[in-house]
Amino acid sequence: MELFALRETVLILDFGSQYTQLIARRVREQSVYSEIHPYHLSLDEIRKKKPIGIVLSGGPSSCYDEGAPTVSPELFSLGVPILGICYGAQLTAKLLGGRVAAADKREYGRAHVQVQAAEDLFHGFQPREDIAVWMSHGDRVEMLPPGFALIGETPSSPAAAFADPQRRCYCVQFHPEVAHTPRGQEILSNFLFRIVRATPGWSMASFVETAVSDTRNAVGSSGRVICALSGGVDSSVACALVHRAVGDRLTCIFVDNGLLRAGERENVASVFRDHFHADLRVVDAEERFLKALSGVTDPERKRKIIGNEFIAVFEDEAKKIGGAEWLVQGTLYPDVIESVSLKGPSAVIKTHHNVGGLPERMNFKLIEPLRELFKDEVRRLGEELGLPRHVLWRQPFPGPGLAVRCLGEVTKQRLDTLRAADAVIEEEIRAAGLYEAIWQSFGVLLPVKSVGVMGDLRTYAEALALRAVYSQDGMTADWVPLPYDLLGTISRRIINEVRGINRVVYDISSKPPATIEWE
Ligand code: XMP
Repeated sequence: MELFALRETVLILDFGSQYTQLIARRVREQSVYSEIHPYHLSLDEIRKKKPIGIVLSGGPSSCYDEGAPTVSPELFSLGVPILGICYGAQLTAKLLGGRVAAADKREYGRAHVQVQAAEDLFHGFQPREDIAVWMSHGDRVEMLPPGFALIGETPSSPAAAFADPQRRCYCVQFHPEVAHTPRGQEILSNFLFRIVRATPGWSMASFVETAVSDTRNAVGSSGRVICALSGGVDSSVACALVHRAVGDRLTCIFVDNGLLRAGERENVASVFRDHFHADLRVVDAEERFLKALSGVTDPERKRKIIGNEFIAVFEDEAKKIGGAEWLVQGTLYPDVIESVSLKGPSAVIKTHHNVGGLPERMNFKLIEPLRELFKDEVRRLGEELGLPRHVLWRQPFPGPGLAVRCLGEVTKQRLDTLRAADAVIEEEIRAAGLYEAIWQSFGVLLPVKSVGVMGDLRTYAEALALRAVYSQDGMTADWVPLPYDLLGTISRRIINEVRGINRVVYDISSKPPATIEWE
């Protein structure tokens, strides 16, 4: 389903640069809506989106590599202003008849560009002004395509910026989107407001308005919409948004798989049933999940069992509702981009559990109202929709829940032990004012028994590993140097208050080479 097709949109075609998301963000920071798509989006699709401007991102390739990503030269005849950045600039030069060559040395890092033409893209700069920029490229443009003129140069890459104002096509060899190009935002703003002539007006409130009306148009006037609510930020915001669009045509399904944190089920019910008055079905599936997991210790088997069981439970429930045609998914932009990865298939390190597989199996049509957003934007959207802070600032929690934090066999008793320890950890981390600064903080119950002494009694019980990590996106992570007194309090409270644990250790591994979850 195409949501949000008809608003002033700047289209960013992604050639695999690590900075592509930043471009989108910088454009939105100027109140202009932008969307990222893979470079191979067809011309037809591009035309349908009616972009007011197009940005060609950087990328790791050389445009002479075999199979190097490219676009149709017709893109430059659509009459839409184009900004080529780094690889996007080289590709533009090559496709329009210029010459690009591999440089003898890569130019990487800080550089200075001398402005040649202090207008259009460089409006507000002085002629011959030196500006600090961030470069990262191997190839360089040796001959400009016909119609293009030099607008900025550096000693090692003479064609640092070039343009064909007639065609409204601008190219920069450097990265205006990164903080290391301090005046990059002015350059992007010149592109948006002087060249594209965009009208700034995009905001979270306008996003809600458009998304609500787009969702209404997409789902028409009949058929039910269902949503798997996990209690996490993404599914909660997606549900709240769709609820605003379709009201009681939405049914939210929350599967209590018995692997949740303490109080989670009650929290979800209080937000969605009591606050939003949404049609919320809570499925009590603890027994079913625990039975399927009984005797299983292999991490990948646990994940597969939970994934399959979830689909089966959800399917049963959806059938009971009847007439469900639409499924809401809280897919975010980083999830989308991972699935169309330009870097080739990345090795599956852990099977991630989500509702993937459901749409095909049940013939659902998908509504993914968050697919163009980043996590922090989703939180702002949630605020706009009136979701409480404790939902929006919840630390991420894996789909397979406590099962992957309960090493060894997953039993009700061990889960209860882990849940109690986890509640202590959350309470203390919150009390220390660290909960929102830390990406994740949690306990892992180890199937390792050791000897202890409590009062006059010998104990022989399991150990708990405490894990707390800083991370931006979960892809890499550093362990948090928690204050010793906080470590002491958490350890003391867990050992005193939680039966079944007599030892607490702190995990000081970063990712990579460890992962965040233990399984
Ligand atoms: P790892 O353990 O691979 O985790 O370093 C990276 C991040 O992903 C979360 N995670 C999951 N999230 N379904 C999810 O929705 C899953 O199956 C899953 N497994 C791990 C993990 O909590 C961390 O934030």
